[in-house]
Amino acid sequence: MKAIGVRSFGGPEALEVLALPAPDAGAGEVRIRVLAAAVNPTDTLVRSGAPQVRPFQPPKGPYVPGMDAAGVIDQVGPGADGRLAVGQSVVALVTPYGTNGAYAGQVVVPAESVVAAPVRVSIFAASTLLMNAMTARAALEAAQLSSGDTLLVTGAAGTLGGYVIQLAKQDGLYVIADAKPSDMALVESLGADRIVERGDELGVRVRQLVPQGVPGVVDGALLHDKVIPALAARGRLVTLRARAESASQKVDVRPVRVGDSARRTTELENLVRLAESGVITLRVAQVLPASRAGEAHRRLKVGGLRGRLVLDFSDLDQDPVPLCTR
Ligand SMILES: NC(=O)c1ccc[n+]([C@@H]2O[C@H](COP(=O)([O-])OP(=O)(O)OC[C@H]3O[C@@H](n4cnc5c(N)ncnc54)[C@H](OP(=O)(O)O)[C@@H]3O)[C@@H](O)[C@H]2O)c1
Repeated sequence: MKAIGVRSFGGPEALEVLALPAPDAGAGEVRIRVLAAAVNPTDTLVRSGAPQVRPFQPPKGPYVPGMDAAGVIDQVGPGADGRLAVGQSVVALVTPYGTNGAYAGQVVVPAESVVAAPVRVSIFAASTLLMNAMTARAALEAAQLSSGDTLLVTGAAGTLGGYVIQLAKQDGLYVIADAKPSDMALVESLGADRIVERGDELGVRVRQLVPQGVPGVVDGALLHDKVIPALAARGRLVTLRARAESASQKVDVRPVRVGDSARRTTELENLVRLAESGVITLRVAQVLPASRAGEAHRRLKVGGLRGRLVLDFSDLDQDPVPLCTR
């Protein structure tokens, strides 16, 4: 099969088309013939061998990134969940390891991480759902707020931030979100109750709305210490990327790793239903041929993307796509 990856860790230019042996589904696993893979910030960490991911990867390449796959099941391993069958159109939350990542013609995934693709949604939009929506769900659980409580979301115009806003509103939270002026209409359309301009004065602006500070923050912009002034005493700061503990003893820092939630099948199915009903909005910035993954990584680094870049694997791999049976 063909995949997009790096022989050894490097910059976007290190991404290339690799010819690799097709993996086989083992016990409790399925293999997906990937048609689309979303390009997420974490993929750039896998590509570059960032310290956060290195301990979770084999010592030698090649490495194939990708946590969000959409495609068709083409092999079911022994003992895999009876929900899944060859020919089924699915989405999967992939935990990439070595050459087994979503940027590939075929990827093997535990059956628990695979659910039926949302209906009436393109395969490209479908690929943008699971990884970030599951992270958003886990982040809201970590924030432990009750209906009516106020949540601050940073990086609100981003993919994760958007899902956090939409799921938080469904949970009955009051949502304050940050945005730059050009993103305010977008963030309002996602359902935020109040929008404050992003930047160094964020804490001051939030305190003008909530003088005692907010009880919870989901920090999609990775502001960390800079967002602490917005938090109430003992408020919960949900962080999305591992880093040194905050110097402040006054806040409760709660790191979230989506890998810990990758096998929560019922919640993954629930997220698919929410996407089908429009409660959460799938946003695609652009679909690119998979061979242009390097360009996608460069554009992600520059910032300013609204919606996800998605890699189209339809041309890259010559293996036939199984006939869709359901
Ligand atoms: N721990 C986990 O398991 C996990 C899972 C999923 C995601 N994540 C992480 O969560 C973060 C968000 O992911 P994403 O997919 O939503 O990324 P994204 O789509 O790139 O969104 C990030 C947003 O933050 C904004 N931003 C950047 N710097 C900012 C600042 N100083 N103040 C306010 N906003 C700022 C960006 O705006 P511009 O585009 O204008 O810069 C963008 O709108 C990423 O770092 C990702 O790696 C972690």
